[in-house]
Amino acid sequence: MRSYRLKIVRRTTHTENIFGLDFKYSGITPWPGQFFQVRVDEGVELFLNRPISVASYKRGHLLLVVKIVGRGTRTLSMKKAGDYLTLFGPFGRRFRPAHRKSLIIAGGIGIAPLHFLAEYMARRNIDFDVLYGVRNKDEFIFRSDLKRMASRVTFVAERGYREKETVVTRIRRMDLNDFSVGYACGPREMLMALQELKLPITTYAFCEDFMGCGCGLCLGCAIMHGGVYRRICIDGPVLSLGDIDFEV
Ligand SMILES: Cc1cc2nc3c(=O)[nH]c(=O)nc-3n(C[C@H](O)[C@H](O)[C@H](O)COP(=O)(O)OP(=O)(O)OC[C@H]3O[C@@H](n4cnc5c(N)ncnc54)[C@H](O)[C@@H]3O)c2cc1C
Ligand code: FES
Repeated sequence: MRSYRLKIVRRTTHTENIFGLDFKYSGITPWPGQFFQVRVDEGVELFLNRPISVASYKRGHLLLVVKIVGRGTRTLSMKKAGDYLTLFGPFGRRFRPAHRKSLIIAGGIGIAPLHFLAEYMARRNIDFDVLYGVRNKDEFIFRSDLKRMASRVTFVAERGYREKETVVTRIRRMDLNDFSVGYACGPREMLMALQELKLPITTYAFCEDFMGCGCGLCLGCAIMHGGVYRRICIDGPVLSLGDIDFEV
């Protein structure tokens, strides 16, 4: 882990409340699932750094894609090209995706780390499909990118399409025999519902819980996994979904 003072080279608007920050970056190469702790403000009010996943890293450009949910992410949304931000990282265990037919399962902003995973797999010719769900159909991001990289992409939305669906209702109807492994990221309720389905493929969750230090010290991100407490920031964020105890 290192700290970087990086200049924003481009700010993109994806939807009303989702934006991207593109930095020139030549630091430690990030792995799928890894994230940076972003210093939102130099003042004490927004004291805790905000964890944001790597959404893309290629040709010396690092992309973070952020959904505005509170004060920290709103403050970040006001940054523009030319501004500087301090980033710490990359954090998280280095996770090596399998070289087997895979299914990416994304809910909402959970697509951000999974987009980087998709880039990683496409670069290594790993065959994968994507199932991507959002609440409103105008919330999809990375649509053309995903179509270009994946063998097949299924978009579902709870509102805006004639057929109202979630990734959970759709996956129930899918034949998963073609796949060996799944990677899921999205709201906690989505991960819990997927776990309940007991999918016939090994599935990994990209966990996004509350965080303090980001480096294993505060235990703020502890999660019960396989009968022991693990820290999402250093043991994860990618953990086998079946072993997570969401009740503890
Ligand atoms: C490893 C990791 C990677 C992440 N990657 C991304 C990413 O790539 N893009 C992105 O937009 N967000 C990501 N997040 C979530 C992001 O860190 C939070 O949304 C952000 O810290 C909220 O800060 P805030 O000050 O805007 O909101 P706050 O004012 O702190 O909270 C506003 C609301 O959001 C809820 N909230 C805050 N943090 C989280 C969280 N971690 N999970 C669920 N609900 C939360 C609070 O309960 C509250 O209701 C990631 C989180 C983790 C742990
Ligand atoms: S955030 Fe402090 S231990 Fe994980």
